[in-house]
Amino acid sequence: MTADEQKIVAAEAALEYFDEGIIGVGTGSTVNHFIDALSKIKHRVEAAVSSSEASTKRLRDHGIPVIDLNAAGDFELYVDGADESNHHLQLIKGGGGALTREKIIAETSHKFICIADEGKLVKMLGEFPLPVEVVPMARSLVARQIVKLGGTPVWREDFITDNGNQILDVHNLEIMEPIKLEQQINNITGVVTVGLFARHPADLLILGTDQGAVQLDPE
Ligand code: 5RP
Repeated sequence: MTADEQKIVAAEAALEYFDEGIIGVGTGSTVNHFIDALSKIKHRVEAAVSSSEASTKRLRDHGIPVIDLNAAGDFELYVDGADESNHHLQLIKGGGGALTREKIIAETSHKFICIADEGKLVKMLGEFPLPVEVVPMARSLVARQIVKLGGTPVWREDFITDNGNQILDVHNLEIMEPIKLEQQINNITGVVTVGLFARHPADLLILGTDQGAVQLDPE
């Protein structure tokens, strides 16, 4: 199976966890497969809250209503992909640049299910460059602080987030203590969001594999 076929396996398996009502929807190629699968049961979807303009468009193209998070109140489920997951289901996210809205929706929903191809499961986070969303005027300031933490920040040029901000992709990090690093980067003035989801990891990881969907709880 290709990685993309594994993404479809994971996306379709996640549907089992949705009953009815409002659902939180992430961003990326795996989530695109989830949205396509969700459209087949859209009569059960009261509305979606979406983590990006791209997902909003895809949801609406399928006839699924999208509402503002402030109007959603409490809801049960958020489904999103990841760039890396460790066995504690702590994640690196933001390869698609939607990390801020993703973190907000993950925090709001009762359950966060991460869907991914099996290549995303790693022993230690950090091989995938860690995205950090920054206020544009603070980009160099934040970059200098990140160098002090041992990382090599690279400006994702020609990319503006849905919130009008910029992204630094931080290379060369071996993330031994994900919660500590998440806090340290969050504390840098000018950082909007760091793409480490460690303090609030996923509740369940569904991996697409050649043998079918494998569901992992946090270790
Ligand atoms: C977007 C994300 C995505 O979930 C992450 O980049 C994984 O993407 P894909 O499903 O295309 O592999 O965090 O900001």
